[in-house]
Amino acid sequence: RRVFVFNGPNLARLGTREPSVYGTASFDDLVALCHRFGGELGLAVDVRQTDDESELVSWLHEAADGSIPVVLNPAAFTHYSYALRDAIAQRTAPLIEVHISNPAAREEFRLVSVVAAVASGTIAGFGLRSYELALRAIAEDGR
Ligand code: DQA
Repeated sequence: RRVFVFNGPNLARLGTREPSVYGTASFDDLVALCHRFGGELGLAVDVRQTDDESELVSWLHEAADGSIPVVLNPAAFTHYSYALRDAIAQRTAPLIEVHISNPAAREEFRLVSVVAAVASGTIAGFGLRSYELALRAIAEDGR
């Protein structure tokens, strides 16, 4: 079974980007973790990252058209992108919102997620394990 793992802006800089918040593992480490963990769950995982809202929207259309489940870290788009929200709303397969940090424990502007209401669920605050937990939810859940 195919699964997408989509990552929004600045996430290619994992490891060097604010390591006290996001940890020291790199984006390549995240890709390897998703492939390894997804493989154990019988999932063929396609991991992508973009800083571009329009590219992320077109990937979400691809997921909707193919009914392919998605693990999505929308990064800063979480907090203000209605375009992302409207793209997610078209899905029929599960989509899990993930965050490495726990936005609820951070700045005020991170308290709002404009995508949470159209996601199947949200996993936040567990570092890269947030992605493992989301892949597990997709592997086990038919929603
Ligand atoms: C993030 C949290 C967002 O608030 C932030 O803009 C990010 C990363 C996370 O994974 O913790 O870029 O989505």
